Amino acid sequence: MRHFLTLKDFSKEEILDIISLAVKIKKKAKKGKFKPYMKDKVLGMIFEKSSTRTRVSFEVGIHQLGGKGLFLSSDDIQLGRGEPLKDTARVLSRMVDMVMIRTFGQERLEEFAKYSTVPLISGLSDKYHPMQLLADYMTICEHGKDKGLIAAYVGDGNNIANSWLMLASKIGFELRISTPKGYEPNQEVLKDAHKFAKKSGAKIVLHDTPQDAVRGAGVITSDTWVSMGQESEKAKRQSDFQGFIVDDKMMALAQKEAMFLHCLPAYRGFEVSDEVFEAHSEEIFDEAENRLHVQKAVMVWLDRHR
Ligand code: CP
Ligand code: NVA
Repeated sequence: MRHFLTLKDFSKEEILDIISLAVKIKKKAKKGKFKPYMKDKVLGMIFEKSSTRTRVSFEVGIHQLGGKGLFLSSDDIQLGRGEPLKDTARVLSRMVDMVMIRTFGQERLEEFAKYSTVPLISGLSDKYHPMQLLADYMTICEHGKDKGLIAAYVGDGNNIANSWLMLASKIGFELRISTPKGYEPNQEVLKDAHKFAKKSGAKIVLHDTPQDAVRGAGVITSDTWVSMGQESEKAKRQSDFQGFIVDDKMMALAQKEAMFLHCLPAYRGFEVSDEVFEAHSEEIFDEAENRLHVQKAVMVWLDRHR
């Protein structure tokens, strides 16, 4: 049995296999065809943080697969009142077929997985957001930008940046990252990325200025400067990130037809300008939609590997 807690645990072949299944599922869905790959199966969805896309895409996804999703907010279940995670894992394992968790520390996912007898999927932690990056790469491929890909991530070295590092180093493309000083990606993740890059041929470069990172890149991406759980640091972060907005001037340095991706929610006037966001909204909302298709593929894939 496999869990999906990070892209680190998946090979390039497995990632591409899941994406090609997602493309197939999406094509059928567009014709109104929904194959009940997971008929009568139940997905438990534990949320310790807010969500729009992750919640809706998993809930709609399992429904379209013929199963049912249970939304379990930590505010409403005993977990939020202190019931141990390992007990919650053992109870849910006896009642549902798969679990998705959105939480704080990655170690909470690992702890749940240790006690779970059903596959567990990460719906975001402070360290990673693997489902997002699967959707991002699917969108890049659909837009024909995967050949000779140079991606540039501008902003906070957070869960999204860490996940870009895992994706690039597994797939083997060039990833440039530029963050303000003190906001670099996780060091251990960087080390892993350099290790995987040796095998895949990826090029991983940290740039001092966002302009250097973006110059000549085919995909530009950013994320909020204030992630969930960092609300008290908002003012300091907004000041520390000055100069890291992706605006028209920044995009002008990229390739002519460069894409701009954003996991959403986006904060205009901070990590991205309204002009750049709206000019690339088709790509950004394709990216959001692909969460649905790729997560259906992940659920089917994990179910097949039980
Ligand atoms: N991108 C993403 O995961 O969005 P939500 O926080 O709305 O789930
Ligand atoms: N970095 C953001 C991503 C939201 C989808 C956060 O963790 O809040």
